[in-house]
Amino acid sequence: MNEKQKWTQKQLYLPYEEWPKETRTALKKMVSASPWRTTYHIEPSTGLLNDPNGFTFFDGHWQLSYQSFPYGPVHGLKSWHRLTSPDLVHWQDEGDFLLPDSPYDAQGVYSGSAISLSPDILFIMYTGNVRTADWKRKTYQNGALMNRTGEVTKMTRPLIQRPDNLTEHFRDPMLFMQRQNLYVLIGGQSRSDHAGIMLLFRCTKNIRHWTFVGNVNAGISHWGYMVECPNFVVVDHHPVLIFSPQGLDQSVLCYDNRYPTVYLSGTSFDASSATLNDPTDLHLLDEGFDNYATQAFNSPDGRTLSISWIGMPETSYPTDDYGYDGALSLVNELKWQDGRLIQSPVKETLELRKPEKVLNPDKTYLTTNSYELHVHVQNGEKTTLSLFDNPEHTIHLQVTLDTIEGVVTIDRQTFSWPTDPNDNQRRLIRLESHQAIDITIFADISIFECYINGGAHRATGRVFPDKDGNGLSITGHTRAKYFEMKK
Ligand code: FRU
Repeated sequence: MNEKQKWTQKQLYLPYEEWPKETRTALKKMVSASPWRTTYHIEPSTGLLNDPNGFTFFDGHWQLSYQSFPYGPVHGLKSWHRLTSPDLVHWQDEGDFLLPDSPYDAQGVYSGSAISLSPDILFIMYTGNVRTADWKRKTYQNGALMNRTGEVTKMTRPLIQRPDNLTEHFRDPMLFMQRQNLYVLIGGQSRSDHAGIMLLFRCTKNIRHWTFVGNVNAGISHWGYMVECPNFVVVDHHPVLIFSPQGLDQSVLCYDNRYPTVYLSGTSFDASSATLNDPTDLHLLDEGFDNYATQAFNSPDGRTLSISWIGMPETSYPTDDYGYDGALSLVNELKWQDGRLIQSPVKETLELRKPEKVLNPDKTYLTTNSYELHVHVQNGEKTTLSLFDNPEHTIHLQVTLDTIEGVVTIDRQTFSWPTDPNDNQRRLIRLESHQAIDITIFADISIFECYINGGAHRATGRVFPDKDGNGLSITGHTRAKYFEMKK
């Protein structure tokens, strides 16, 4: 069944074992006919992918799961689907992982995180979504343990009760350690005024015992109406909170997407009082179109790593017609410099490159639409890049780098998708005026990830070009470095 067909509640929440076996086989066939399957990004083999979950290092491998509804490109009954990797770039599909099969998660194994507690045990905390007979939402924060062979055992009882002053929108536990203590951040909505909040809990005796520390105080007076997917990481000694607020007021932070993902830092994070001291302003983590639910963690190798859902809640994509939806970003390493996050694909991404080529201006190159492009625009110049360009040069992603004004414009309005004329299909990324601009763009069939000025700004999005939409050109005096990517 594809997106065009109307899904009933019964179909959306049908227990997995009641789906005929052939459903996934039929979906796989549809997926294989898609012209927009990417070459080096993670996509679901069938159905829908949303948030990254349980991103961590355990048993000598990188571990990553994602929110999955394998039976169609819609937000149905969610589970976790697991992958492992030796290098953060090549991922092995480990299949369905945490399934909605207990009384505390029967209508969805929602987002959560994982942390290695010993070389043999990975501890997972996730939100269980349950609906009562009259379809009222109930929410539970559940635990599970995975061993080195990948076997997972759910803990029998929920670990953290929903505080009474919260609505049932209480989810997405993110585990982290600070000074030998285990903490968890959880997003939520207060009952009294339906405002978003972020809560901190500390593990006491053992992983079955948690105590409420407080609502996170980060100098933010309005968090919107719901905080989803909170994260706490330390980046180059700076405490950083990353989260996806819904309904955030434009006076707090300007953004163009339906929902933004944001970050802020401070001088220190006092976990005994849940306070981020001397908080900075909020910043957008991604200034493009399709980025949400970022998950980050402090890896044992000293790096801070992040990965995002390339997608947006309440948005449908043209791949839905081929039985799948959603992708994950490249894994990024986070650094802190001059008061902001620097995000760039991990160094292992270099393994994907084929030999370098130099591209000259004012010439259209026909590409595989799977490449890494580097452009340096000298101060005083203005350059336009056209990617995914059709032969008539009428449909393309245009990226304009204006060093005089200090603005990068990313424009996808010539494509027939997105169809909503009210959505703004241009993004303006403001930089210092009269400065050179550097951009690295990772193009992958129907995804673009732009990293501007060494990763001080990042902009991600999707485009769905026609078969012949594979031109690439650069105006002006600027040459580009180009690497086709390996399959
Ligand atoms: C964010 C989110 C989370 C929730 C999950 C359900 O995209 O809504 O808050 O846990 O997706 O799939």
